Amino acid sequence: GETEKGDFDHFMLKEIFEQPQTIEETFKGRLNPGYSEIVLGGLQNVFPRIVDARRIIIIGCGTSWHAALIAEYLLEEYARIPVEVEYASEFRYRKPVIYKDDVVILISQSGETADTLAALRLAKNEGALVLGICNVVGSSLARETEAGVYTHAGVEIGVASTKAFTAQMTVLTLFALKLAKEKSTISAKEFDVLVKELAEIPEKGRVILQQNHRIQEIAAKYKDAVNALYLGRGCLFPVALEGALKLKEISYIHAEGYAAGEMKHGPIALVDDNLPVVVVAPQDAFYEKIVSNIQEIKARKGNVIAIISEGDSGLGELADDLIEIPGSQPALAPLLAVLPLQLLAYHIAVLRGCNVDQPRNLAKSVTVE
Ligand code: G6P
Repeated sequence: GETEKGDFDHFMLKEIFEQPQTIEETFKGRLNPGYSEIVLGGLQNVFPRIVDARRIIIIGCGTSWHAALIAEYLLEEYARIPVEVEYASEFRYRKPVIYKDDVVILISQSGETADTLAALRLAKNEGALVLGICNVVGSSLARETEAGVYTHAGVEIGVASTKAFTAQMTVLTLFALKLAKEKSTISAKEFDVLVKELAEIPEKGRVILQQNHRIQEIAAKYKDAVNALYLGRGCLFPVALEGALKLKEISYIHAEGYAAGEMKHGPIALVDDNLPVVVVAPQDAFYEKIVSNIQEIKARKGNVIAIISEGDSGLGELADDLIEIPGSQPALAPLLAVLPLQLLAYHIAVLRGCNVDQPRNLAKSVTVE
């Protein structure tokens, strides 16, 4: 059952391994048989207003905020609409400019995070169209938004969010592609390629999870680190943020995620032979740039754990440890690249003897301020 660990040592590990299935649950039924249409039933009545929106503001906390950051890349690239992303705790207390033709999307696994609900009420008061993306059916967020989409991730028990995050990403990808299609800002061919590839993500995810043992070995090498740096570019920059958050939440190692291009403006000063640097480096448009980032880290004796495209032999000499992920369209790479980062954080935390399902000082949902 959902609330039992079964063969797994921890709920977090079970939930990491459920992702191929939960991602599939989330898109299944929302694609027509020929994959030519995306159906988001919960948004059907309001979709014309979304198409006419001036701007989209996406709000969340923690891991849900990282999903929002990735969605910003997808929505701006494909649907050509300006997007702002904000922490709920900031949005609610400043005096944000909200237009009646704004669409405000609140993302929350639990649907009960106090700051996110306060942001929702503020945006609603200003007359914006408020939409929810959440996992818990009938939650406050689901009840108070005008419309929304459920992530079908099932009950998530581990405090550090894993399967809810990839389900959020799946919904946001469907949403971005549907909006792009309705606005004719994506070609039929591109839409077709992306939707078909989304359907292949569960299988590619399974291939990544098969490397669990190898990732555990890498974790053993770095378990005593004091600090760690995570780097990525484009929509993999928020994935670097999420990888760092996972590590700090459950292992208590101080970890920072950074846009790889910003490394020279600060984090490079931290690099020495004690610093593990996890670099998300698939063969995409940024590959050459990220390879030079890796060279800069190696020149300062940092330890590089590179997440690379399957079969990329180019980084073997340079990086200390490699984790392969199957190739994909760049827009879908976050769904794959986050899996090894979740496993790496998990194994490091277990090896350090931490309580991974119930990390100290953290709550599954923060319902009071
Ligand atoms: C807490 C949890 C995180 C979660 C965040 C937002 O900090 O520990 O895992 O990402 O709240 O929760 P929500 O339910 O709003 O997505």
